[in-house]
Amino acid sequence: MRKIVVNILRGAETGSGRMCRYTVDVDDGAAVSVMNILEDIYENQDHTLAFFSHAACRQAACGKCMVKVDGAVKLACKERVDADEVTIEPYGRNVVRDLICEG
Ligand code: FES
Repeated sequence: MRKIVVNILRGAETGSGRMCRYTVDVDDGAAVSVMNILEDIYENQDHTLAFFSHAACRQAACGKCMVKVDGAVKLACKERVDADEVTIEPYGRNVVRDLICEG
């Protein structure tokens, strides 16, 4: 089992963000996406975390799960996490809540 420290910029609207820190356990050698990590946090630690998941394609086709991962814009369903720590932020300036942006 390995632990991934996950920093997530959360807030109700643009400019009101605060960095929240979580730790997620993953099986050794398991391929883990940013989406897997967000779902784990939502299901097991913090049910208030807002991110685009429901009814999403999860196949890097719809583009709705876009977030910033360590400063670079990525698709959460496609981006694999191999590091022991990762920072996830909303990708745009029009933040609706947490990792969900308008437009
Ligand atoms: S869920 Fe559609 S691109 Fe990620």
